[in-house]
Amino acid sequence: MKKCNVTINWPNGVSTYSKPGKGWIESARKAGIEIPMGCLKGSCGACEIEVNGEVTRACINTIPTSNEILNIKLYTDPYW
Ligand code: FES
Repeated sequence: MKKCNVTINWPNGVSTYSKPGKGWIESARKAGIEIPMGCLKGSCGACEIEVNGEVTRACINTIPTSNEILNIKLYTDPYW
């Protein structure tokens, strides 16, 4: 049987479980984290997070299917 949930470990120590294809913003909120937002169109970079070492823009990308455990780091941009 194929697993459909991804474990997401957030920097505040909370883990959430989600199906691939769901949005990062919603998943972060479940963990009690507000990802900073700007344009919501993928151009400003305010919402960048690091997913298993790779930077992704949370507003336009979804939870991938390639990993079952994802470790997240947040960036803080002094301009946002
Ligand atoms: S909010 Fe601007 S790139 Fe995501």
